[in-house]
Amino acid sequence: MSALYEQLHLPSSSFSSFSSFSSLPSSSSPAFAQDVLDGLAHRQRRIPCQWLYDHLGSLLFERITQQPEYYPARTEIAILEQVAGQVAEAAGPHATLIELGSGSARKTPIVLRALDRPAAYVPVDISETFLASTTRTIAAGFPRLKVVPCVADFTRLTSLPPELPAGRRVVFFPGSTIGNLDPAAAEALLTRIGRVVGAGALMVIGIDHTRDPARMVRAYDDAAGVTAAFNKNLLVRINRELRGDFDAEAFHHVARFDSEQRRIEMHLVSARTQRATVLGRAFDFAIGQSIHTENSYKPSPFQFLAMAHRAGWRQEQLWVEGAAGYAVHVLQSVSSPSSSSFSSL
Ligand code: AVJ
Repeated sequence: MSALYEQLHLPSSSFSSFSSFSSLPSSSSPAFAQDVLDGLAHRQRRIPCQWLYDHLGSLLFERITQQPEYYPARTEIAILEQVAGQVAEAAGPHATLIELGSGSARKTPIVLRALDRPAAYVPVDISETFLASTTRTIAAGFPRLKVVPCVADFTRLTSLPPELPAGRRVVFFPGSTIGNLDPAAAEALLTRIGRVVGAGALMVIGIDHTRDPARMVRAYDDAAGVTAAFNKNLLVRINRELRGDFDAEAFHHVARFDSEQRRIEMHLVSARTQRATVLGRAFDFAIGQSIHTENSYKPSPFQFLAMAHRAGWRQEQLWVEGAAGYAVHVLQSVSSPSSSSFSSL
């Protein structure tokens, strides 16, 4: 294990030991504590969705992708299987594939197999345990490939690991994951990733352009209750890592579509009047009061491409699955890595 950890770009908080001044359990992060305490202080309570993905959360998300109602995952796989050859042609030989939010990397082999002698694979993920097993799986399946795992919140990625081979960078950003960010943050992320990978890099990105609200709501509230368990796991995590005492069963999972903002929202809605404490602070809930736990934006293809253009990416290829409205876009970066609009003034 320690050998693997040496190659990982671990956030320093992973190594911080339990301090006598801190009341946090050793497994938790100060950023999590901050986000939860701040988020619960708002009138509309909210917790940023990245905290849904502890190890159990990541496993539950994998199970969501296997539910019949959750069309994005299987639709994207079907598209990728059909178009991987064309993506590989656009990429050329010896490409380095950089995956943002790699999770279990179930779709990655479809792209890696199609690429012409890929030089390296860089999975970027916030869950260390998932990243370690993904790294082993991909390395075993592609013995000649250099795998360089990177533990990071990809929304804060500012540079790539230094030891990467030269050759074209291909960013792989599947799953409509960018839809978790509000439009301004999504645009900022595309801009920053463009600077990190440089002009000429490609991005293969999956986006859900679906327009049927009923279908969407079903996808985020599956009959088997997996998405509900995924959502409630956040409370379980707070209880474990932040000395919380939430009764997860006293909250309902709710998925609703906001047509104005074109987004699915997940909430945890209090089933009764209750009080919960987190790190010694008390929070009272009225019946029906909610904690907003996730947004999943569903932009139109035009909205998305306009944003990508503003962020310095131009359209190369686009495939949309008609019935589902799910799309895979291939974009090319037109901004150079160190270009600042002010440097030449
Ligand atoms: C991980 C962002 C792709 O928003 O569709 C699935 C997360 N949440 N069901 C999505 C999720 C509830 C998922 N992404």
